[in-house]
Amino acid sequence: MSKYNKIFIASDHGGFETKGALIKYFSNKYNVIDLGTNSNESVDYPVFAKKLCKEVLNNDNSFGILVCGTGIGMSIAANKIKNIRCANVTSLEFAKLSKEHNNANVLSLSGRFVSDEENIKIVESFIESEFEKRHQNRLDILEE
Ligand code: RB5
Repeated sequence: MSKYNKIFIASDHGGFETKGALIKYFSNKYNVIDLGTNSNESVDYPVFAKKLCKEVLNNDNSFGILVCGTGIGMSIAANKIKNIRCANVTSLEFAKLSKEHNNANVLSLSGRFVSDEENIKIVESFIESEFEKRHQNRLDILEE
């Protein structure tokens, strides 16, 4: 039984193919909810970041995955939303630390510079990691 009931996922055109690969892989084990985009056609990433963050905040025991070309635009957009802690992650170690130290509730991935295989491992590393409560005070200061 996973600690996560739902995984929300969204991308822009730059992350569309990677989003498909992640959904294909993780749907076997998790309830993965696809919030778009639905094609390679150019779209505006903040629209999808906002949509996903709203769902993450409204659903306990969930987290979000955003994918754009670099992961940068999506993370900037997501981190404008109160109580969202989005980490733009391109390595397994950072995925682990984003959970352990930052209690990230959204991962932002790169569809253009990181392979699908590596992004799958990044998400697995995040799921397997636990928040270390000694960092809670820093998270409280973030939301003051
Ligand atoms: C879209 O071309 C690209 O700018 C976007 O996917 C993302 O990388 C922005 O940060």
